[in-house]
Amino acid sequence: MTLAIEQPAVSAGVHTDCRILHLTSLSLHSFRNYVAARMEVTAAPVVLAGHNGAGKTNILEAISLLTPGRGLRRAKLAEIDSRNHKGLAWAVAANISGMQGEAKLGTGRDAESDEGSDKRIIKIDGKVCKGQAELARHLSMIWLTPQMEQLFQEGASAGRKFLDRLVYSFDAEHASRINEYEYAMRERNKLLQDYRADGHWLDALEQTMAETGAAIAQARLSTVEHINLSIQRSTLSFPKAELGISGLVENLLATGVPAVQAEEAFKGVLKTARREDGAAGRTLSGTHRSEMGVIHLTKQMPAQSCSTGEQKALLLSIVLAQARSCAHWRKEVPVILLDEVVAHLDSTRRLELFEEICQIGAQTWMTGTDAALFAGLEGAAQYYQVENGTLRHAK
Ligand SMILES: Nc1ncnc2c1ncn2[C@@H]1O[C@H](COP(=O)(O)OP(=O)(O)O)[C@@H](O)[C@H]1O
Ligand SMILES: [Mg+2]
Repeated sequence: MTLAIEQPAVSAGVHTDCRILHLTSLSLHSFRNYVAARMEVTAAPVVLAGHNGAGKTNILEAISLLTPGRGLRRAKLAEIDSRNHKGLAWAVAANISGMQGEAKLGTGRDAESDEGSDKRIIKIDGKVCKGQAELARHLSMIWLTPQMEQLFQEGASAGRKFLDRLVYSFDAEHASRINEYEYAMRERNKLLQDYRADGHWLDALEQTMAETGAAIAQARLSTVEHINLSIQRSTLSFPKAELGISGLVENLLATGVPAVQAEEAFKGVLKTARREDGAAGRTLSGTHRSEMGVIHLTKQMPAQSCSTGEQKALLLSIVLAQARSCAHWRKEVPVILLDEVVAHLDSTRRLELFEEICQIGAQTWMTGTDAALFAGLEGAAQYYQVENGTLRHAK
């Protein structure tokens, strides 16, 4: 598939024509080891330094919950409630400068609902929103955590989820399309268990799955293409990755089949598979089964066969390329969260990373046990010392 990707004016440099998406304040209440905490920040990178267990990742998790999904730990909502404050539901609030200008985002566990309920409340500018997808229309974010390098070993679903997160930051509607697709799929699965199922209702659900599925596949392919291009152009010494996505619909689109035709083909597959899917109790093919592949370009080695060090570096290069790609083509720089990433880099790569995030201009939140790991960033970043659930602005 070829996309009309326009050439950016410069291959590197500060994007003065970009909107730098960023938080201006963050408040937590009853959030893990924080009883209450608040910080005011500028658009510059933020360094969170502190001992193990101080509460650095908790801050990144709180920020990640300002986007759709379950946050960077994929935690259950009740797990996040502070154990030191039995009975209080957690809450996170942030003032942001986002895609629609300044906004106040709030989220938390619904104190009215029972503890097992995993539905979180979303408030934007004080108004409760129906779904989480609205968050993606204000803020885009990408993150990297030490757990994520396992995604190469975890199989298709982890890779696909990682890619879909990258797509969210490129296409604000991706989250709502995935919701719509999955809702229709669950309804279809239920209906297929009933031998009296209404054929017209199944047709309608399959139509929704085909339409949203084609759009999902298209958005994934487009993101992959932009990231690959951005990586090819990168002057960083990090290993270069090449991303791929394969699946029923993606493969059709990739060979140049028009979207409407791919949609019809997928609808046909779903209709033919009703009996088989009914017997399996799930939908056996579709965009929810697509697989992401990553190759170490210079070695021509699949990422799952690379060393853990190489895997970490490949993921970092993908995340940075995505941030650059959002800046070039969307004119929006996402917020980046890098948990314990810096400690694994040698000093040369560390400086390269700092230079890259400063050039991209992203509000990048970075954690490390020692502020000395961030030598070279002085003057360009805001430093916070994290200690036992408290935050102190370190001058
Ligand atoms: N629900 C909770 N209530 C209270 N404390 C919690 C909760 N969940 C995790 N913690 C504590 O938060 C602390 C800090 O976690 P974390 O942010 O991961 O630390 P680090 O600074 O190493 O990244 C840990 O000591 C953990 O026990
Ligand atoms: Mg941590």
